[in-house]
Amino acid sequence: MSNVIKVAKHGEMKNGEARSVTVDGTPIAVFYVDGHYYALADSCCHRGGPLSEGTVDGTKVACPWHGWEFDLVTGACETEPSARQPVFEVRVDGDDVVLVLPN
Ligand code: FES
Repeated sequence: MSNVIKVAKHGEMKNGEARSVTVDGTPIAVFYVDGHYYALADSCCHRGGPLSEGTVDGTKVACPWHGWEFDLVTGACETEPSARQPVFEVRVDGDDVVLVLPN
């Protein structure tokens, strides 16, 4: 079983846009870049900065608080290699963009 949560209508997010959705108290950042969606834990693993408010450059986002850069695909931190953001499955389901979370 999985938990499917609607995030947006497909086509309503602009290229490079991010939005934060909270699921069971956990903020998740959903990004739309060049036709693809990505989802990372929104709370930066450094000190909790909101990655959904960060600067997106291709498939990287820089945290708005201290600038650590994360790969949107893998969650790997390019600034501090021992750090990593959790990533989540996000996909287009009909007209909707949905997060698919394990129960
Ligand atoms: S809180 Fe994100 S880099 Fe410090």
